[in-house]
Amino acid sequence: MRILLASDHGGSDLKSALVAFMGERDDVELVDLGCDGTCSVDYPDFAAQLCRKLLAGEGDRGILVCGTGIGISIAANRFSNIRAALCHDEFGARMSRQHNDANVLVLGGRTTGIEVAQGILNMWLDTEFDGGRHQGRIEKIEKIAD
Ligand code: RB5
Repeated sequence: MRILLASDHGGSDLKSALVAFMGERDDVELVDLGCDGTCSVDYPDFAAQLCRKLLAGEGDRGILVCGTGIGISIAANRFSNIRAALCHDEFGARMSRQHNDANVLVLGGRTTGIEVAQGILNMWLDTEFDGGRHQGRIEKIEKIAD
């Protein structure tokens, strides 16, 4: 599974920890899109870069991190066919895959501890979409108009 990963400065420490976790998994090929270090950057830029690459087929799924996970998930969900799920626990991570077919996992670098994040990450990577009745609901999301 090819995973695209990006954060802003508020998420860069947790992003570094995620790089280490995913290095332990033989089934993950990781593409780190930045940011590097803790210089102040704008989270919409990193959300947009990752989502464009994901939609272009450059990865199978994406992971985004900002301070709370809120801003970067709002930005990512502006893109059609991106279903970005901000998760704080393993139950949410499992549901985001089984019911929502979330193709982007979002974490908060200032809200979620490293060990909790590792559990969320593994659950999210290892859980498949249930399909069935959930497929039609996802299709309805794409048809929502202003
Ligand atoms: C950056 O200071 C912070 O606003 C950002 O990481 C994120 O929490 C926004 O939602």
